[in-house]
Amino acid sequence: MLRRYKDFSIDVGLHRGSFIAAPRAEQQRWVVHRAVDELAEQLRHLDVIAPEFVDGTTRGEINAEWHGSEADYHDGSLIIEGQQVMQDWEAALMRRMAERVGAGHGDILEIGFGLGLSATFIEEQGVRSHTIVEFNDQVLEVAKAWRARRPDSDIELIQGNWQSVMPTLGDFDGIFWDAFPTSEDEFDQYVLRDSTVAEAFFSEAAAHLRPGGVFTYYTNERDSLSRRHQRSLLRYFSSFAVEVVDGLVPPADCQYWWTDRMTVVTATR
Ligand SMILES: C[S@@+](CC[C@H](N)C(=O)[O-])C[C@H]1O[C@@H](n2cnc3c(N)ncnc32)[C@H](O)[C@@H]1O
Repeated sequence: MLRRYKDFSIDVGLHRGSFIAAPRAEQQRWVVHRAVDELAEQLRHLDVIAPEFVDGTTRGEINAEWHGSEADYHDGSLIIEGQQVMQDWEAALMRRMAERVGAGHGDILEIGFGLGLSATFIEEQGVRSHTIVEFNDQVLEVAKAWRARRPDSDIELIQGNWQSVMPTLGDFDGIFWDAFPTSEDEFDQYVLRDSTVAEAFFSEAAAHLRPGGVFTYYTNERDSLSRRHQRSLLRYFSSFAVEVVDGLVPPADCQYWWTDRMTVVTATR
């Protein structure tokens, strides 16, 4: 099947006769055409939005263990291992996610403290308890100072990565995930291969949410969710809501996001 459009073409060859083996050839043609139409639409959409991207800069490699690495806080950003781990232009995004996860005012689990923006917004929701898992030792010290300024809140800080800490935790009403790849292997898997950077955490989130509990996470998706991403969510959650936070202003040298909006997901167990 060769589709020619004004600006590009798509050539699809099915190599196995039994590939997409619908009972009738007409059905097979129909679903394959739909899939190709979707790809064409996505390419046209990217053509419209790409000129608006900020220039960005190239990320360096992560070379050392994350937990003992220096955490460099300056100018509203956090740098660890040369990575732009967090920047304060994300505040509106963090606020919306915190509002969604804290809406029930229950027991909240948060993965990754960073600048503490989302942690502060979650506290502003008035939640019953707030458990924060943070992998980097120096970030954890910043989190301890942040907690000390909130003596009336029930805040527990846990040092470690979510991969090893989750089996030790109980159940929550809301889970907020905003970690960051801590090695090149994680970058390759979570950022480049998975449907969304949080996908590896989906099963953990579902396992530790009470019925009706909600999960939100940094999506890395601009204005919608890919089919692959949606299918992965529906494998673990009964439903999900999608909204877009716009008006974001990543700086010209941002290494990890180039556009003015990001999708927020609220998944319900
Ligand atoms: C993007 S920042 C979080 C930003 C935060 N939401 C805010 O509003 O400031 C990511 C944080 O997660 C931590 N982190 C990275 N990988 C982790 C992991 N596997 N488990 C726990 N924390 C992790 C990083 O050290 C960093 O502090």
